[in-house]
Amino acid sequence: MSVENKITVLDFGGQYAHLITKRIRRLGVYADISHPDASLEELGRPGGIILSGGPSSVYAGNAPPFNREILESGIPVLGLCYGMQLIAYVLGGDVRRLARREYGRAEVDIVGDSPLFEGLSRREQVWMSHGDSVARVPDGFEIIGVTGDCPAAAIENRAKQIYGLQFHPEVRDTPSGNRILDNFIRICGLARNWSMEGYIEEKMREIRERVGSRNVFLLVSGGVDSTVTFTLLNAALGEDRVIGIHIDNGFMRKSESASVKQALERLGFHNLIVVDRSDDFLRAVAGITDPQAKRKAIGDEFMYVKDRELASLRFNPDEWLLGQGTLYPDIIESGGTRHADVIKTHHNRTDMIKEMVARGLVVEPLDQLYKDEVREVGERLGLPHNLVWRHPFPGPGIAVRVLCDTGGVSSEDFDRLCGQVAEKALPAGYNSMILPVRSVGVQGDCRTYAHPAALAGPLDWERLDRLSTDITNGISGVNRVVLAIGGGPLKPLASRAATLTRERLDLLREADHLAMQVLRERGMYEEIFQMPVVLLPISSDGRKECVAVRPLESSDVMTARFYRMAEEGIREIAERILALGAIEYVFYDLTHKPPGTFEWE
Ligand code: XMP
Repeated sequence: MSVENKITVLDFGGQYAHLITKRIRRLGVYADISHPDASLEELGRPGGIILSGGPSSVYAGNAPPFNREILESGIPVLGLCYGMQLIAYVLGGDVRRLARREYGRAEVDIVGDSPLFEGLSRREQVWMSHGDSVARVPDGFEIIGVTGDCPAAAIENRAKQIYGLQFHPEVRDTPSGNRILDNFIRICGLARNWSMEGYIEEKMREIRERVGSRNVFLLVSGGVDSTVTFTLLNAALGEDRVIGIHIDNGFMRKSESASVKQALERLGFHNLIVVDRSDDFLRAVAGITDPQAKRKAIGDEFMYVKDRELASLRFNPDEWLLGQGTLYPDIIESGGTRHADVIKTHHNRTDMIKEMVARGLVVEPLDQLYKDEVREVGERLGLPHNLVWRHPFPGPGIAVRVLCDTGGVSSEDFDRLCGQVAEKALPAGYNSMILPVRSVGVQGDCRTYAHPAALAGPLDWERLDRLSTDITNGISGVNRVVLAIGGGPLKPLASRAATLTRERLDLLREADHLAMQVLRERGMYEEIFQMPVVLLPISSDGRKECVAVRPLESSDVMTARFYRMAEEGIREIAERILALGAIEYVFYDLTHKPPGTFEWE
């Protein structure tokens, strides 16, 4: 039977299916993700199959359906965590619920000489996270690894080339995990022929074939994905056959549209047209103060403008195709539960575009890649490092960072909250107040919309971290804590009526630009995952506004910790922003996620 030179990961709903896929690719073999009940034909006869972990129990009624044929196909199989329990269960072994869930680091003792563990020590550190465990292995299987709590931490049926690991080789806390995955690739007998250079060459060939004598049109948002797609299409087809349109919605960062255009021009591509639609977008959000309503208005306007631009070109399908920067996690149903991905998928799949996809009129050359791989493609094609490695940026742009208000927010709770916060802050050595705005947060999977508490006092990270958690955990009605880092002693602040205006957007753009400059100059930019800079319509005199900076460390946007910046960096950010003359206080956000979301809206 001929097989394709790839490994397919069957996703049972675990957190790590994407991580497994990426690790395999890094080891030089193409890997993709599929549903556990896909037929062998649907899977495209991969040379190896990995069964991922998952939240279910093999006995549970809601366990994902699985195509058992896979275990009889002769294709080497590696089951991880739930995947291993499934192998044991399906082939007649016994799986039991543990009295206590095993979670965290463990040491596994290797038994025998399995090819899966070639090159490993007899004892290895591994990462465990399971509530069920294999109590009896099926006939034909041997135990090849044990831990103190788990007598069958690894199993094999060498003759059938079926392996199972109760632990996770794909995470960093299993230091030899890569070696194990590498051994599995060897067991599968696959060639290491996946590389970024090879991928780029192959994609360019494919693009030329697919497009034929036609041309490609692409909307370039200015984000990394569409910029790299545009560059790749240009490289494959030449600039005469590609047109990029960038719709400036007025919510971009300072000089962002210009710098993308400039970088492309440096590469020799002059075919990006910038269309200024900021008036339309400003009109769409005029007078709106509610965060959700604002976001919806921007989303709707984007769909409308995008479809109108497409329609205005009156595509002759014999001459034009549509290019899109869709990524791999966007196109597989099991992928991307991240907010950003959901939004983007939405934009890449309007009804009009879905119809075009069905008619074969859409080219998506990055649809097999992950974000970090796309960045690598961008760099290889000559896009500058700092453009390709920019922080993530929300679709609605800085519109969600310019807070709006109907003015005079003073909830009945205000005095009570001030008192409660002071009770915690004063003994810790901090003055405090409640800010008369509200921001979005997330606690126990629920959205909150509540007041931030502001502190003034020494920059003692340990104390601030504890105090911030103590306040948001202990005082309902406060979901965020900030520290005043510029503007002097705290004075009572009042909110005023404010909407999205060009002036306010420009003011925030300037403050954001200054803060980002400090990050770059001080070498912090790549250490920080993302740093929203937010404009707050509050002041003591009714004229100025306040700014909050929110530097975060995160790996997956679902959770994050606030970044502990060196004092000089903090001082410099505050001084530069205050020098604008229009800002009264600069605050530093001390809230982890949860309880605070990245964005304030
Ligand atoms: P939150 O605020 O939900 O943000 O903690 C998590 C990540 O998602 C980004 N974000 C968005 N991205 N459209 C987007 O494309 C949106 O409406 C949106 N809201 C938040 C945010 O910047 C962070 O990276």
